[in-house]
Amino acid sequence: MSLAPGTSEANSARTSQPGFAGAAIFDRYVLSRLTRRTRLRRLLLERITEPLHLNLASVFVALFGTYRAKVACDLVIRQQFAWPLLRIADEAVKIGLKRVSIAEFGVANGAGLLNMCKLAVSTTKATGIEFDVYGFDTGTGMPPAIDHRDHPELWQQSDFPMDVGALQRALPGFARLLIGDVAETIPSFLASLSPQAPLAFVSLDLDYYSSSKRALEVFKGEPTQYLPTAQIYLDDIVIENANPWCGELLAVEEFNAETAMRKIAPVPMVRSQRLFKNARYLDQMYQLHVFDHPLRQPRSDRAAHVIPNEYIG
Ligand SMILES: C[S@@+](CC[C@H](N)C(=O)[O-])C[C@H]1O[C@@H](n2cnc3c(N)ncnc32)[C@H](O)[C@@H]1O
Repeated sequence: MSLAPGTSEANSARTSQPGFAGAAIFDRYVLSRLTRRTRLRRLLLERITEPLHLNLASVFVALFGTYRAKVACDLVIRQQFAWPLLRIADEAVKIGLKRVSIAEFGVANGAGLLNMCKLAVSTTKATGIEFDVYGFDTGTGMPPAIDHRDHPELWQQSDFPMDVGALQRALPGFARLLIGDVAETIPSFLASLSPQAPLAFVSLDLDYYSSSKRALEVFKGEPTQYLPTAQIYLDDIVIENANPWCGELLAVEEFNAETAMRKIAPVPMVRSQRLFKNARYLDQMYQLHVFDHPLRQPRSDRAAHVIPNEYIG
């Protein structure tokens, strides 16, 4: 049984996981990912089309750079987690939080969840913000598809099984698996989600419309259970069949129609904020706007912003 994140047992386990924190597993993992043909082709396509001077600079960053510089240059495996984790940690520092919660919906064999844990450790070192990590999955693979909206032409029941025991053993103490259909696991998760560690990032990778729609219920808790703007990664909107009438896009559209004070929208100006503009994940980065969050209400308790005018001194 995994430990609940945030407990003292979990915190001591955080530091007593040499096997997890050790780089060896991940070096092999990085190599195996990079040698997969489709990944290599995508990487080359994304990087070869970027300016030469930036690619040259990245070699130096890869060798000598800080973690933050490596994330800036998209040199970290799963940039779609690394970048938002730094964003939410910086935001948490600004508003005086010490820890935040992050979740992966759709875990399968857990490669993504373990990678998320590794990036959480690196982000903690860079920012001081600690993470509670949650992985949601049936534990038995995909449930049956309901109809065409679930893209049954791509996915079917029992795809993506999990070795629950092996994954439980591999997870560090600050991470926890929530096994069952998301419709059943979200209510108790929300009941235990503390404003001291609000939900700040969600990776949605449940493939189906029906599962994604149920998963988005996680954003219907109390306003202080979230960062005022939480980050979301939508894994399945860049498939060739993606369209607004199926899959995650439909689930997001229906969520926005149902909730007046919570809206999900793409991250604005995302390309202008990044050095490397061609990375595919930039099209998959969304945000939850929590309009009813106390920090998004009219206020008059700080000094007024003043715009300097160099013409009049
Ligand atoms: C594509 S896999 C996830 C891959 C994983 N994110 C990774 O990076 O390796 C999709 C997962 O979603 C899970 N899933 C789909 N519908 C679900 C539901 N309603 N409740 C819980 N898990 C679900 C399946 O069990 C499956 O493991």
